[in-house]
Amino acid sequence: MARNGKEAIGILTGGGDCPGLNAVIRAVVRRAYMLGYETIGIKNGWYGLVKGLVEPLDLMKVSGILPRGGTILGTSRTNPLKDENDKKAVLENVKQLGLDYLIAIGGEDTLGVARSLAKEGVVKVVGVPKTIDNDVEGTDQTFGFDTAVSIVTEAIDRLHTTAESHQRVMVVEVMGRHTGWIAVVGGLAGGADCILIPEHPMNIDEICEILAKRHSRGRLFSIIVVAEGFKLEGGEELVTKNQKLDQFGHVHLGGIGEVIADQIEKKTGYETRVTVLGHIQRGGSPTAFDRVLGTRYGVKAVDLIHEGKFGSMVCLKGNKITDIPLSDAMRKLKFVDPELIQTAEIFYG
Ligand code: F6P
Repeated sequence: MARNGKEAIGILTGGGDCPGLNAVIRAVVRRAYMLGYETIGIKNGWYGLVKGLVEPLDLMKVSGILPRGGTILGTSRTNPLKDENDKKAVLENVKQLGLDYLIAIGGEDTLGVARSLAKEGVVKVVGVPKTIDNDVEGTDQTFGFDTAVSIVTEAIDRLHTTAESHQRVMVVEVMGRHTGWIAVVGGLAGGADCILIPEHPMNIDEICEILAKRHSRGRLFSIIVVAEGFKLEGGEELVTKNQKLDQFGHVHLGGIGEVIADQIEKKTGYETRVTVLGHIQRGGSPTAFDRVLGTRYGVKAVDLIHEGKFGSMVCLKGNKITDIPLSDAMRKLKFVDPELIQTAEIFYG
């Protein structure tokens, strides 16, 4: 339904925030304005569409937000498909607010909802893949990942100097949920001596052998990067004390760093410390790469609407921005390419 004689594009950001979201929002508003659409910001992810919380976005509202982390729209992990009343409210609000189209920016959960709504014909949707975890199958890279990796790299660089001074083992626990992208790429960039990821379980003896090999050639400190979803061979993923599932059924992972460090110290006698990088990996200003990727995704999302290509997701294939049906984009998680971990292994010990 046209507002002010213009068709309206709703835009929302859902799931965990990440650097680059504001670059996408800015690009959507600018491109939409150029092509003659109005943009309506929906607050706090799908929650805002359930409750009808919106804010029209004009050029002034998005001016100066390119370098800002987080999302000016707010976000949540609300799943509007969990409750039939919430789903009805989404349908009602899409009509009431006069939203002709919707751009949903998110990871597997947010985009999964977008895919269902598109399939049921509730609204004409285009998805934009976001997450520091880089685990969305339909794209070579999600924005937010590059920034998270650069934060991990800087942290490892800093830990190197203190590890060497004290001749300690430093275990760095990073995010990534069930995949090890942040760990393996951050670890490679930081020159980690061992990288532990969910895709490649190892046992504690193998890990200690790597450390002992380094010691035997006179390197008396080591850096181990462990992804929060890593499991010791035969073990389980560790969840934090906060055992509550989110609305998409996810547990909150964390704690594996402490377990590994404790076992290393007991087995080798090497003094070992743990650093959990946590939400620092998601905060602050996006890298140049994420600003550009987010901008290209935002422009493409509006172009897809203009071309009538609904139920699709923008994606990066090689260096090209293109699109893929939402139904093909998320059939499974995108796991770490074994070639990356094989490359990392060359530098162990
Ligand atoms: O999906 C992004 C992510 O940062 C994961 O790497 C992590 O497991 C999770 O979100 C943390 O969630 P929350 O922000 O709810 O603590």
